[in-house]
Amino acid sequence: MHLQSLLKLYAAAALAVSSSALSVPRSNSLEARQNGGPLVFCHFMIGIVGNRGSAADFDADMKNAKAAGIDAFALNIGVDSYTDQQLEYAYESAANNGMKVFISFDFNWYHTDQGTQVGQMIQKYGSKPAQLLVDGKIFASSFAGDGVDSNAVRAAAGGNIFWAPNFHPQQGTNLGAVDSAFNWMAWPSDGNNKAPKPGANVTVQDGDGIYTNALAGKPYLAPVSPWFSTHFGAEVPYSKNWVFPGDFLWFDRWTEILQLKPRFVEIITWNDYGESHYVGRLDSPHGDDGNSKWTYGMPHNGWLDMAEPFIAAYKQGSNDPGAHITEDKIVYWFRPTLSSINCDATDTTMGDADNSTGNYFKGRPDGYQTLQDKVFIVTLLKEAGTLEVTVGGKTQTFQAAAGANKFSVDMAPGPISFKVNNLSGDAGMQILDHCPCGIYNFNAYVGTIPAGVPDELQPAGYSNIMNGLKVATCGPSGN
Ligand SMILES: *[C@@H]1O[C@H](CO)[C@@H](O)[C@H](O)[C@H]1NC(C)=O
Ligand SMILES: *[C@@H]1O[C@H](CO)[C@@H](O)[C@H](O)[C@H]1NC(C)=O
Ligand SMILES: *[C@@H]1O[C@H](CO)[C@@H](O)[C@H](O)[C@H]1NC(C)=O
Repeated sequence: MHLQSLLKLYAAAALAVSSSALSVPRSNSLEARQNGGPLVFCHFMIGIVGNRGSAADFDADMKNAKAAGIDAFALNIGVDSYTDQQLEYAYESAANNGMKVFISFDFNWYHTDQGTQVGQMIQKYGSKPAQLLVDGKIFASSFAGDGVDSNAVRAAAGGNIFWAPNFHPQQGTNLGAVDSAFNWMAWPSDGNNKAPKPGANVTVQDGDGIYTNALAGKPYLAPVSPWFSTHFGAEVPYSKNWVFPGDFLWFDRWTEILQLKPRFVEIITWNDYGESHYVGRLDSPHGDDGNSKWTYGMPHNGWLDMAEPFIAAYKQGSNDPGAHITEDKIVYWFRPTLSSINCDATDTTMGDADNSTGNYFKGRPDGYQTLQDKVFIVTLLKEAGTLEVTVGGKTQTFQAAAGANKFSVDMAPGPISFKVNNLSGDAGMQILDHCPCGIYNFNAYVGTIPAGVPDELQPAGYSNIMNGLKVATCGPSGN
């Protein structure tokens, strides 16, 4: 309903433009969508790419994101010494590759009394060619930041900004001084940053309702994320160990987004390997904050393939990803082990670690019981077919309709293979009967049939892989 009226608006805008003899933007071109239409962002952690040496190091990210239909990267920044240099590279690469970018201030590092500094950063980068403008204004966002003075941000930025911070109306923050608000909670939770529990169960849609009510007609920046698993022990100072429910979240949430039709969507994330919600490639150049022990050999870029027809449908205001499927594909994902496997003897989170955050748990990650021991399969088909899935020597068949559809089968150690129409192939990883790298690894392996371009961490991305491990082999040395 909302989008229908927006579509009429672009039609009006296009007429106005053509009457002044300028080129007419296509109704769903980026140019048209920047002025009233739907836009797709993806959260990009600058903090993991401090080792990049040139704008060219960002080129593959820009090209891959653009090819999937992402309009802009939300560049998440803290206050590290390399931040300005990396922002310069990112803005330059985006300009060279036809992408847009904007800054997302991370208030784990910024302080809420720094509205003026935030505004000054927005102004510093806002006139660069790759800056995302929305309704002609410099777009900027945040992670957290409730309490920052939006008027101070606006004044220091020079006034002309479209301010979409991650404020929390459920904590009482007033949204009167913002242009939009970003909801970070892309995962079902207990309302207290952990997985749902009986009696404490907040869905992502509950969050949509809270934000859209509080925004009272202002545009909503809705989250979508495939997964969440983190498993840092005492080997790093930021120990944390929990999951949110993933499973079919990526498929189900995109289906919801097509119904909800928010003006903005943000994928969480491109490259936050530490929380396992990356949809970018492992070989995207980055350093190792200790995540490699659960990301080595675990590509996720198939999730971006799954999203492509949903993104295309979203941009057209359509509920039907099927119309945007150009070739048959199977996208599948699964965890490396059953949750019943016992890794206590060699896991990295069995000892004491700093728990001042309340995010540290021992052994299997907190919330693991909310995940199902299944292989998750999404078929993207131009024509209906019979899907055959073989796991641990047992074959099951399903009727798969044309369009985008989901199926699941129980996990069992051993190889996995798939067949539908003229596609067939083995999964790129087997379900294991041992603890990979000795740990409880609740990350997902994501693959496609036909298989995509092989994707592995570069050496800098696994430079700390042995740190804290209790086994002698991991990643490049075996698992
Ligand atoms: C939370 O609610 C969802 C949706 O109603 C349900 O599918 C899920 O099983 C619930 N989770 C828990 C732990 O109660
Ligand atoms: C860490 O703190 C949380 C929140 O207080 C608590 O639930 C959890 O049990 C603690 N972890 C450990 C290992 O004590
Ligand atoms: C599978 O069929 C599709 C059309 O249905 C065709 O485009 C594609 O080339 C075929 N692939 C193979 C490997 O034969």
